[in-house]
Amino acid sequence: MTGSINVALLGSKFMGRAHSNAWLKVGKFFDVDPVPVMHTVVARNTAELDQFARRWGWQHSSTDWQSVVASGDIDLVDIGTPNDVHAEQAIAALEAGRHVACEKPLAGTLADAEAMAAAAESSAAKTFVWFNYRRVPAVALAQRLVAAGALGRIYHVRAAYLQSWGGPDTPLLWRFQGDIAGSGAHGDLNAHIIDAVRFVTGEEIVTVEGAMEHTFIEERELLEGSAGGEIAGSGAATAGSKGRSTVDDAVMFLARTSGGALASFEATRLATGYHNANRFEIHGEKGALRFDFERMNELGFYNLDSDDAVQGWTTIDVTRSGAGHPYVEAWWPDSHGLGYEHSFINQASDILNIVGGKEPLVAMPDFADALKTQRVLHAAVESARNHAPVEVADLSSLRRDVT
Ligand SMILES: NC(=O)c1ccc[n+]([C@@H]2O[C@H](COP(=O)([O-])OP(=O)(O)OC[C@H]3O[C@@H](n4cnc5c(N)ncnc54)[C@H](O)[C@@H]3O)[C@@H](O)[C@H]2O)c1
Repeated sequence: MTGSINVALLGSKFMGRAHSNAWLKVGKFFDVDPVPVMHTVVARNTAELDQFARRWGWQHSSTDWQSVVASGDIDLVDIGTPNDVHAEQAIAALEAGRHVACEKPLAGTLADAEAMAAAAESSAAKTFVWFNYRRVPAVALAQRLVAAGALGRIYHVRAAYLQSWGGPDTPLLWRFQGDIAGSGAHGDLNAHIIDAVRFVTGEEIVTVEGAMEHTFIEERELLEGSAGGEIAGSGAATAGSKGRSTVDDAVMFLARTSGGALASFEATRLATGYHNANRFEIHGEKGALRFDFERMNELGFYNLDSDDAVQGWTTIDVTRSGAGHPYVEAWWPDSHGLGYEHSFINQASDILNIVGGKEPLVAMPDFADALKTQRVLHAAVESARNHAPVEVADLSSLRRDVT
């Protein structure tokens, strides 16, 4: 294939910027075919939209996502909107024959996620989910090491995603509104680490053994005339006027994997001292791995095959193209570190690889794959609310309105 595809981006705030940057840069650093054309950006805020389009190089802007998605000019719809509209937008795009790249979590509810996966299954178009942390070189290398047998049988997985922006001064953004977000730290952060654990270990989460969810801050200041702006620090709160937070601030759960490992997951927006500590540790019969996004250019490896006298944690600098570190060849010389935005640009290159009929460098979650993560999210909430273990495979018989 030699050609181009017209992209329409829905959403122009946090992920709008991350995705715009990815479509803008991907062809500069990767040999992509097709080449993305930044055709139209869609968002609700007309005042800022034109300026956003000009700044990032979008040819057109619109506040009407339905007509953009239906337009024959568009080949790929990129969804960076709040979770409650993912299903409506993705299904409309798939029915119009567009490829769809959707932000995580796949949806706010399991029912929405199932409808999206069903629409993807009956469409010839391709689907992609922005679990961008798979494309951090250290995480991609961890997956390669596990797949090559470096850890052997896996005994333990310990995953945590710790942020602290959700204190009492943070207003009632959409992320604290259950009807929009679906859940709080759980769908926002546990979604990422569930995906990372599934990806790196190659094992599925089969049982949630127990879970806890908690809302520490039950009321937050209302944002003036808005359903909630960007992640933090945006939008003026209306003095004194408060609304109810209807999501968790933190969720922890214990699980078993298909390979028999014991796993723990913790997501919180109230981990004072941590800002974006997206971490996992994996212990196997032959070695162990550890990763923390706050030191994203490093991967920790403990190798029981090395001489006993020198055994210890090795900190691998994962920025060396000569060492074959994933994606690094496209970027800078050794130890010229990568950042958050590179994971999105790396993902854009793999989306284009797949659209062009080539293999992605790293396995890409589509809607069917992201539905598996959504089912684990849902199982954890069921487990927390019923104080009971939940088999992920049994979920079809359970309530659908939780996650
Ligand atoms: N992959 C990641 O690391 C990551 C990080 C942050 C957010 N996300 C996900 O990205 C999505 C968006 O989050 P965000 O932080 O960018 O939110 P945001 O509030 O910063 O931006 C939301 C954007 O969507 C637009 N929008 C809202 N409703 C719309 C509608 N009905 N039609 C068209 N546009 C609409 C808004 O105008 C705004 O531009 C969420 O699903 C979130 O979970 C993923």
